[in-house]
Amino acid sequence: MPSRPGFQLLEAEHGVLRAGLRRALETARQGSGRASGTIGSLTTGLRRHMRREDRALYPLCERLFSGWEGAVSVLKEEHDALRKQLDRLRTAQREPDRAVQRETLEGLARLVDLHFAREERVLFPLTSARMSERDHRSFERTLRADRRNRRRTDRT
Ligand SMILES: [Fe+2]
Ligand SMILES: [Fe+2]
Repeated sequence: MPSRPGFQLLEAEHGVLRAGLRRALETARQGSGRASGTIGSLTTGLRRHMRREDRALYPLCERLFSGWEGAVSVLKEEHDALRKQLDRLRTAQREPDRAVQRETLEGLARLVDLHFAREERVLFPLTSARMSERDHRSFERTLRADRRNRRRTDRT
């Protein structure tokens, strides 16, 4: 079954973040020292994406999978691990040794791959199948509204 619009939005964000991560890794491996701009937008994008899921998706999963909170808590723990790795990356950017930044980015890439795959292969299809038409519409609306608000705050 093709993904529904709300999940398509999240999957599209995964695509953008994966591409950003690849670019940051390439730059860091070349050692040209210009990775900081790429890392900055990657960090902001990933934090925003997780915040959107924390607010709009995970509470919905907890409601739909009552008794299976453990499964959702694994994903929440992965968000915590990702945030910690982003903090490490910020510290690594100040390191004169470029290898530290590269290794931290590689660690982030491993966590991101694992987490996105779990969401795309397991969480999104399972959640989507349990959602009513109304759930799907309100999920998409929430994600789009959140995006519009963010653009407005970004402009101010
Ligand atoms: Fe996530
Ligand atoms: Fe995600």
